[in-house]
Amino acid sequence: MRVDDVERIAVVGAGIMGHGIAQTFATAGYEVTLTDANATALEAATPRIAQNLASFVEHGLIDGGEVTGVLARIATIPDLDEAVSDADVVIEAIVEDFEAKRTLFNRLDKVCPDRTVLASNSSSLLISEFAAETTRQDRVILTHWFNPPHIVPTVEIIPGCYTSDETFELIYELHRKAGKLAVRIRKELPGYLVNRIQMAMLREVWSLWEMGVASAEDIDLAVKGSFGFRLASIGPLLTNDLGGNDTNYRVASYLLPLINSDVQPPRAFKELVESGGYGQKTGWGFFTFTQEEWQKVIEKRDREFLQRLKELYLTSEEAADS
Ligand SMILES: NC(=O)c1ccc[n+]([C@@H]2O[C@H](COP(=O)([O-])OP(=O)(O)OC[C@H]3O[C@@H](n4cnc5c(N)ncnc54)[C@H](O)[C@@H]3O)[C@@H](O)[C@H]2O)c1
Repeated sequence: MRVDDVERIAVVGAGIMGHGIAQTFATAGYEVTLTDANATALEAATPRIAQNLASFVEHGLIDGGEVTGVLARIATIPDLDEAVSDADVVIEAIVEDFEAKRTLFNRLDKVCPDRTVLASNSSSLLISEFAAETTRQDRVILTHWFNPPHIVPTVEIIPGCYTSDETFELIYELHRKAGKLAVRIRKELPGYLVNRIQMAMLREVWSLWEMGVASAEDIDLAVKGSFGFRLASIGPLLTNDLGGNDTNYRVASYLLPLINSDVQPPRAFKELVESGGYGQKTGWGFFTFTQEEWQKVIEKRDREFLQRLKELYLTSEEAADS
């Protein structure tokens, strides 16, 4: 199958990630079926997508006249077998649970046509272990999106050890056609690429917070206005080249032995989680807000993200290339 042959995409799991993935492909013109084992989650998906599309219209990212067509291209189908039975590509975005995903891949392999490529949006699990559940190991791949998936540009495309080059290129091109910043990851490894980098940073952030070096507000402020400010425009390695690798090397040689290298999350972070400080879900974490205030935080985040998407990606060379 070539990328231009792809017409129908099925998304399994209609939660935080699945509904946004479905929206992205429907906006790009694909016929999308969306399914979920939980009827309430599936029912909530369409209004959620309609609300996202309204923000896209507000920011001039799509035309108001396109909304009805996008929504019409998404069919919510409670029955899994029916939802995937004629899909060219299936993307699963169900709960991050090895056994649940293993069972799902087994089922998908049985009910999907031979041509169908099976993709997982897992954030940590290795795709080869799910490919092993199927009779189409060359047509199984990992596509790692970032939350909110309909806004954040990057999708890591990660092959398993059995994925064919043809499948890899097909899925890479498909995501580019859907307007995403697809990134080729050459090797399968735990955490893939972005989450490994992110975790290295978070270990130090949690440790500095535990030591009381600065308040949660000030830690976020310092990061947002320094390397966070740079990173949306230039990556860490280009930043290195611009700053001078001789200097970076000297700083690294001095500092690396002194920063956190623990193999478990810091004690204070463990205690925060164990006492229910999950963040927005429970109302408090590093920050405490009312539900209304959390809603405002999310709305502000999405407004700023959409603005950035427009400024940095929809007019950039990356977008022009794709
Ligand atoms: N949330 C994130 O920031 C994020 C980022 C990148 C990747 N991911 C990955 O994406 C996947 C989905 O995450 P999420 O945050 O959308 O989770 P979520 O809990 O919001 O949604 C998961 C949905 O899957 C449904 N589901 C569970 N088991 C199912 C099954 N067997 N068949 C059909 N539907 C089933 C649930 O009812 C739920 O609606 C996970 O693998 C997660 O690790 C999440």
